[in-house]
Amino acid sequence: MALKGRDLVTIDDLTNGEIEAIFKLADSMADSMPGQYGLCRGKVMASLFFEPSTRTRLSFETAMHRLGGRVISVSDPKSTSLAKGESIADMARIVAGYADIIVIRHPWEGAARLVADYADVPVINAGDGGHQHPTQTLCDLYTLIKERGSIHGLKIALWGDLKYGRTTHSLIFALAKFGATIVFCPSRGLEVPENILHKLVTEYGGELERFGGREKKVKSGALQVDAVYMTPGKPHQLAMMPGIDFEVELKAGVDALYVTRPQKERFTGEEQPDNEFPVVDKKMMRGKQFSKTLVMHPLPRVDELAYDLDADPRAMYFKQASRGVPVRMALLALTLGVKEFPVIEEPSPVRTDYLMYERDYGVKCNNPRCVTAQESEKKYLKPGFKIVNREPLTLRCVYCEHGTEPKFIASTEWHEGRVEHKKYHRANSHLVKKIRPENLIAFDSEKEAEEHGYKPGYYAKAKEK
Ligand code: CP
Repeated sequence: MALKGRDLVTIDDLTNGEIEAIFKLADSMADSMPGQYGLCRGKVMASLFFEPSTRTRLSFETAMHRLGGRVISVSDPKSTSLAKGESIADMARIVAGYADIIVIRHPWEGAARLVADYADVPVINAGDGGHQHPTQTLCDLYTLIKERGSIHGLKIALWGDLKYGRTTHSLIFALAKFGATIVFCPSRGLEVPENILHKLVTEYGGELERFGGREKKVKSGALQVDAVYMTPGKPHQLAMMPGIDFEVELKAGVDALYVTRPQKERFTGEEQPDNEFPVVDKKMMRGKQFSKTLVMHPLPRVDELAYDLDADPRAMYFKQASRGVPVRMALLALTLGVKEFPVIEEPSPVRTDYLMYERDYGVKCNNPRCVTAQESEKKYLKPGFKIVNREPLTLRCVYCEHGTEPKFIASTEWHEGRVEHKKYHRANSHLVKKIRPENLIAFDSEKEAEEHGYKPGYYAKAKEK
């Protein structure tokens, strides 16, 4: 298996075949824990946690100890030289000189990608702000497969904070890849971000049915459904038929209810006043539609999941957490190359062939939580985007994956060094299609274009498309 030396930054970094191989190895490791000791003898894992963690840090560290490896650890954000203003890139290069693998949790979105770019050892994302948490997703998928045999065709409801819940962001893409139907049940004001829905539809195929946002959710028992996503039955073949009555569909119940806590540490002022956070408890789960529903939660919980469900056989959250050890043991062993496992691969419908946009001036990622927006990183970090759409021109940050639609465009080809030909135009003019991606220059504002010596062209003001 070719996981040796690879990074795991987003769940897209693993194919379905690789995820299944990790689970098979995790099964065999769980069956003979003492037999795994010594596999990672002589290896060192750096466990860098710049945000609080119980499960992810301790299960990674347990996994490495059970494999006979050593751990160096940061669990206090103030205890490293990042607190003195050191850049993440410098830290990554230094730690890669000490350890064979890096596991990192950081509050900035895209921080794990940045570490992976600069460290010459494998890097595993243990949660980067509200972006992704791919190894939690592995624990979630492993639990679904253990309990239900397969993920294909399952109906999974995501409940709670779908805006900042990074575990749901990774899980959404994984469920789509494995052919599950996703039922979005966000708390008010905590709907799934547009960039995630855009990526889901454009890269994973399938179809998203939206019910009109906050005020027009479809109600089915306790589920207040904001949107439903169905993956294609086969690549390029849409599964969703027009006119399906979702209320009827949902009355048949869901296979799992994936509950998340309000990520209050990431709230800006605007979420809190409008927020209602319903509680999942024994009374709610008495509903007929939930009779076979697994209750999942990445934990920690606060008030959104009642303790009265803990003894219920449908409660999966402690199993999800404990399964983190064999899953992370398998991942570490494969990534460090001390173990190999055969991968059975099937064609994937996921689109990955985007062209890149990289310039050290012009448009920047507009997500203030992105690692590229931070003072310590701006000094050296060149923004990078995938060109995910031409009309409207849409760029997706390679670090945090937020989308941006630049307002103005120019081409390196037009001016050929002559200042009088350095013209910019509106990005929604017809010219956007004429510029070759490698020549594209995108600006957020006229001021920015003019600061770089560009003058308004004929289509700088015009509204035409
Ligand atoms: N599920 C999870 O990430 O838990 P911790 O924050 O405790 O690591």
